[in-house]
Amino acid sequence: MSVLIKGGRVITAADDTVADVFVDDERISLIGASLDVPADRVIDAGGKYVLPGAIDPHTHLDMPFGGTTTIDDFTSGHAAAARGGTTTHVDFCIQQPGSSFGDSLALWHEKREGKALIDNGFHIAVTDLREGGSLEELATLPDQGVTSYKLFMAYKGALMVDDETLFKTMEVAAETGALVMVHAENGDAIDVLVKKAIAAGHTEPVWHARTRPPETEGEATNRAIQLARVAGCPLYVVHVSCQESVEPIMLAREKGWDVWGETCTQYFFVDETFLERPNFEGAKFVYTPPPRAKANQEVLWNAVRTDVLSAISTDHCAFLWDGQKTLGKDNFAAIPNGGPGIEDRVRMIHHFGVGEGRIGLNRMVELLCTAPAKLFGLYPKKGTIAVGADADLVIFDPEKRHTITAADQNSRVDYNLYEGTEVVGDVETVLLRGNVIVDGGEVVAEPGSGRFVKRARFGEQLLT
Ligand code: URP
Ligand code: ZN
Ligand code: ZN
Repeated sequence: MSVLIKGGRVITAADDTVADVFVDDERISLIGASLDVPADRVIDAGGKYVLPGAIDPHTHLDMPFGGTTTIDDFTSGHAAAARGGTTTHVDFCIQQPGSSFGDSLALWHEKREGKALIDNGFHIAVTDLREGGSLEELATLPDQGVTSYKLFMAYKGALMVDDETLFKTMEVAAETGALVMVHAENGDAIDVLVKKAIAAGHTEPVWHARTRPPETEGEATNRAIQLARVAGCPLYVVHVSCQESVEPIMLAREKGWDVWGETCTQYFFVDETFLERPNFEGAKFVYTPPPRAKANQEVLWNAVRTDVLSAISTDHCAFLWDGQKTLGKDNFAAIPNGGPGIEDRVRMIHHFGVGEGRIGLNRMVELLCTAPAKLFGLYPKKGTIAVGADADLVIFDPEKRHTITAADQNSRVDYNLYEGTEVVGDVETVLLRGNVIVDGGEVVAEPGSGRFVKRARFGEQLLT
């Protein structure tokens, strides 16, 4: 199938030019002014943006967590992603208790098989090096295209690892060229605070934030940075939510250390007061790290503008409000942690970031597409618009108005973090490797058409 996209504003992390893009056999084969080539389909992109397919480096589809399983699988989650302009994501394969990494990865491959609508890779989340997974096996994963190791420094009694496991994994990463990712919170201190709150009879959702103060995130971020220095591995701090963790990342980057950080869409828009909403509505905003004091939102915008933080992900980890979040009706600590967002990232960042003058269009593309591709071994196949790259393209109408609502979303979740928000600018058409998967705002992809992507080792692509 060949496609000619005519007259759009082709926007990459570096350029912004009106051009035609010709796609043949899954790849971009020509970019130029007034291309005169026959094509199976011609798309008029006049007045629209042509963007690289967005990449979400942080998602949790079909993941058992908090006594239940996330509600979006690799079909509904991908439909939501595609509708929102995301064509590739990297999901977390969680090492299962007592299982090897290979067995856990096989389980995650089964979850996506025959279901995927967009492309995806996997990070491996190391949970246990004593039983099941070994350091030797961990070292073999980059050969399978799994080139990032994730560690949770929180969720005591569930996913949390101790510093020994964290540090040993970092040492393996230094050897194998993998990127270490951390969920940085001090899980031991939080566990003490949670137990104290429960003992004092505090059960409401707002106690989720009150028992996870920003200093616990700052402390763990700094600890991970220092340990990564000792081990000599590159480090990526996920879902940075507050000034306390932005600051150590800024300092590390000023020193030229191999440290990167991401934040997620929700931290720009949802603050701690949302957790106080009555009738258990606050539970919709129980994700970790929690929504913070509003002043942090400006800190985060500044951090993404100045490259202190290098990517914006979603941490899409969707649980139904009615039936899953309600597991914690009488105890905030039993509310499954996570929120949805994969469908809304591009339109929210476009409207409030670009539209309100906080970042430019090129920087938006860098944060949502190019930097995640470079950091996670997908570039230059993905994350940009260039001859030879995969034809993962988004035709975005910058004038189209859209009201965000759970009522018309593709995710299975029964609420939306941004319910009722009106944005200007929306995704119209999406191509994945040259195939139209969203047409005029409708998802038309077939389950099974998304591919598993083997990712390159960390590093080389950052020099391009
Ligand atoms: O609350 C969250 N973020 N749930 C997903 C797991 C994680 O910590 O990323
Ligand atoms: Zn996390
Ligand atoms: Zn997450």
